Amino acid sequence: MAGHGLLLASLLILSCFAETSFGTVYFSSLQRTLIVTASPKQGQVLKAGEDKITVNWALNTTFPAGTDSAYKTIKVKLCYAPASQVERGWRKTVDDLSKDKTCQFNIVARPYSASNKSFEWTVERDLPLGTYFVRAYAYNSEDAAVAFGQTTDPHKTTNLFNIEAISGRHLSLDVTSICFSAFSVLSLFGFFWYEKREAKSSQQK
Ligand SMILES: *[C@@H]1O[C@H](CO)[C@@H](O)[C@H](O)[C@H]1NC(C)=O
Ligand SMILES: *[C@@H]1O[C@H](CO)[C@@H](O)[C@H](O)[C@H]1NC(C)=O
Repeated sequence: MAGHGLLLASLLILSCFAETSFGTVYFSSLQRTLIVTASPKQGQVLKAGEDKITVNWALNTTFPAGTDSAYKTIKVKLCYAPASQVERGWRKTVDDLSKDKTCQFNIVARPYSASNKSFEWTVERDLPLGTYFVRAYAYNSEDAAVAFGQTTDPHKTTNLFNIEAISGRHLSLDVTSICFSAFSVLSLFGFFWYEKREAKSSQQK
């Protein structure tokens, strides 16, 4: 009994500690101080594994000097647009950034600089097909998000682009992998059949 109490108490203390040391950051509390642009046009369809995206990011200079004094790193991410989140809990937007699943794909991480930076990214081959936008987060020295910028408007309706999962050129590769999976399933069945037959014949002995 005493042991249980002690365990409970230490768990409580641990969870409080976790709460205070990694303070929750809410997306709605972040200032939109970065200007982020990306090459795809509204509605453009990009082929995963082939097409490239050029992303540019810079500080919006209408903010007062020193706004960015705490910025240490920039992480640029690919994010699901609302159309690709419908009925998919695992892509849900949550204001608490530690639980947010909007931006699951990293494009690039760089030390922060106020000037206009650019990065060319080849759309990863294994990305799910869907509608996306690009967002950049600025992080402080504690690796907590402090600001952001994105290619779309706050309601995520403009400058959205699509990624198509498999292009024709990769189809043969996928056929190969399907054949391999079919082969392994067949071998598994073969193995069970063999095992069963062995068991039967040893019973008969
Ligand atoms: C950064 O440079 C790119 C390419 O020259 C341009 O399209 C973009 O508007 C620039 N961004 C800012 C914030 O100046
Ligand atoms: C820069 O920030 C100001 C103030 O928030 C905003 O009105 C303006 O639209 C921003 N510029 C860009 C290009 O996002």
